[in-house]
Amino acid sequence: MSPETKPDFLISPEGLRVDGRRPDELRPVELKVGVLKQADGSASIRQGKTYIIAGVYGPRELHPRHLTMNDRAYLRVVYRMATFSVPDRKRPAPSRREKEISMVIANALMPALFLEEFPRAVVDVFIQVIQADGGTRCAAINAASLALADAGIPMRSLVPAVAVGKADGVLVVDLGDEEDKYGQGDVPMAIIPATEEITLLQQDGFFSREELMEAIQMGISSCKYLHELQKDALKKAYVKKGPDDEDDMDDDEFDDDLETDLGEADIMEDE
Ligand code: CDP
Repeated sequence: MSPETKPDFLISPEGLRVDGRRPDELRPVELKVGVLKQADGSASIRQGKTYIIAGVYGPRELHPRHLTMNDRAYLRVVYRMATFSVPDRKRPAPSRREKEISMVIANALMPALFLEEFPRAVVDVFIQVIQADGGTRCAAINAASLALADAGIPMRSLVPAVAVGKADGVLVVDLGDEEDKYGQGDVPMAIIPATEEITLLQQDGFFSREELMEAIQMGISSCKYLHELQKDALKKAYVKKGPDDEDDMDDDEFDDDLETDLGEADIMEDE
C-alpha cells in the first residue's frame, strides 16, 4: 500500500495535471462488452486505474414481491466496492455511500430505458468496483449502460458519464483520485447525448455560476466522446470478424442497426 500524500500542486506551471493530462483530457478508457458468462449482459471499464465490472440480469420475476411496480420494471442497481478496491480495506458490509451511489446510478440510467415494456419485472444491475481511483460512480454508469444494452434491455440511448472538477482553480474533466481528494470541487454528470438531457448532476465544493455552466459544457463534450467509445465497444462485441460467418455485418450496417435499437433520438437529430 503506497502512503498517500497531498501533491504540492494539482496544476503545474505548464498548465498540466498531476498525471500529465490537459484540463479537458480524459484518462485512458477501455470498455469491453460481454465479459461475464452467466449474466444476461455485462461490460467492464478501465478508466485510468479505476476498474469496474457490471452484470445485468433480467427482465425477470421480482422478489420480494412488495417491490413490484404494475406499470414498469423495477431497475435494481447494486453498487459495491471490493474490500481490496481502496487503500484502506473497505468493510464488506454495504455502506451508506454504496447505497446512495446505487440509487444515484439507477436514477441516471432510468430515463434512457423503456422499463414500461416489462411491468412487474425487475432488471438487476450488479456493479462491482474492483479498483477505485476516483470517478467510480461515473465509470460505473458508463459500464452499466453498456451491460444493459448487451442484455437487450430496450433503450433510447446509451448513457455516458463523467466527473468535472476544479483543481487549483482550473476546471478539469474526469477527476483522478488525488484531484477528487485535494481539489476544490466535483461535478459528476451523465447525459443522453443526442438531446443533451442531463440524467445525473451532483455538485461538491464551490463553483461560481459561470464555472458551473462551463463545467457542464465540458462534461457534455467529454460524455459525447465517451458515447463514441461506448458504441465502438458494442460494435466490437457484435460485429463478427470471420469472412465465413453468416452473421457477418459491416460497420455501416451495424451503425444502422444500433440506431434503430438505441437511437430514436439519434435519428431525429440526423434528420
Ligand atoms: O468514486 P466517486 O468519485 O464517484 O465517489 P466519491 O464518493 O466521491 O469517492 C471518491 C474516491 O474516493 C473513490 O473513487 C475512491 O477512489 C475513494 N474512496 C476510498 O478510497 N475509500 C472509500 N471507502 C470510498 C471512496
